[in-house]
Amino acid sequence: MRFEDKVAIVTGAGQGIGEGYARALAAEGARVVVADINVEEGERVAKEIGDAARFVKVDVGDPASAEAMAASALSAFGRIDYLVNNAAIFQNMRREGLATVDLEYLNKFLQVNLMGALYCTRAVVPHMTSGAAIVNQSSTAAWMASGYYGLAKAGINHLTASLAAELGDRGIRVNGVAPGPTDTPATRDIMPEEYKASMTRTLAIKRMGTPEDLAPMVLFLLSDDARWLTGQVVSVDGGQLVRL
Ligand SMILES: NC(=O)c1ccc[n+]([C@@H]2O[C@H](COP(=O)([O-])OP(=O)(O)OC[C@H]3O[C@@H](n4cnc5c(N)ncnc54)[C@H](O)[C@@H]3O)[C@@H](O)[C@H]2O)c1
Repeated sequence: MRFEDKVAIVTGAGQGIGEGYARALAAEGARVVVADINVEEGERVAKEIGDAARFVKVDVGDPASAEAMAASALSAFGRIDYLVNNAAIFQNMRREGLATVDLEYLNKFLQVNLMGALYCTRAVVPHMTSGAAIVNQSSTAAWMASGYYGLAKAGINHLTASLAAELGDRGIRVNGVAPGPTDTPATRDIMPEEYKASMTRTLAIKRMGTPEDLAPMVLFLLSDDARWLTGQVVSVDGGQLVRL
């Protein structure tokens, strides 16, 4: 029970990987804000976790909504110790080229998938005290030529390093996790079975990951066991990418 008396906000916790993080944090004693734009799914997750969880509707791409999320977390639980910036436009994302994608869509995508992590961080940091921690959800796509999805994740990696340097003095650590291909409602939608089979053959560990494969790393990065670790993005990817 590493997180007893602690309060965590997990964005995009209405399904998939974020849901896994929220459940894992609650299982170790944290009170959890399940923050998502999808009311039905977010309410489902909070209800299934029970008294330790509250659903808060948020659009992470809107700074005012991120501020309101922080205020709701404080009024529900009185403090904010951890933020997991996991929300992203993913399940229904358009698949187009950087040179041709509609600019209005691209701007909205970057607002949510990149700036959203900064808006939520800015909203919670004034309420955090020394010992607090933030984990940003990156992706192995950050190191691949993967269009605007990878562009946003490369930006997430930069945010992680820069915010770690900026917030270290205040005792706030900032790290990232870069998952490889992970089985979620999103990838079940996006990836045809034949693609999944050929892609998993290229991994060192030849299967898709699960939210349960990722959660232990996020919990470690948030916990005091990682007290001298900040500014890092750790790949949890079945050996998809080897960076020397
Ligand atoms: N699944 C993978 O293979 C994989 C791999 C690497 C990284 N990731 C990253 O992990 C995270 C979660 O992925 P997933 O597969 O669970 O995706 P998902 O699409 O299943 O879940 C994303 C969640 O974010 C929410 N969301 C979307 N826009 C939002 C907004 N503006 N404000 C608040 N919430 C919003 C959705 O409602 C949903 O609940 C994303 O950041 C994704 O980029 C996923």
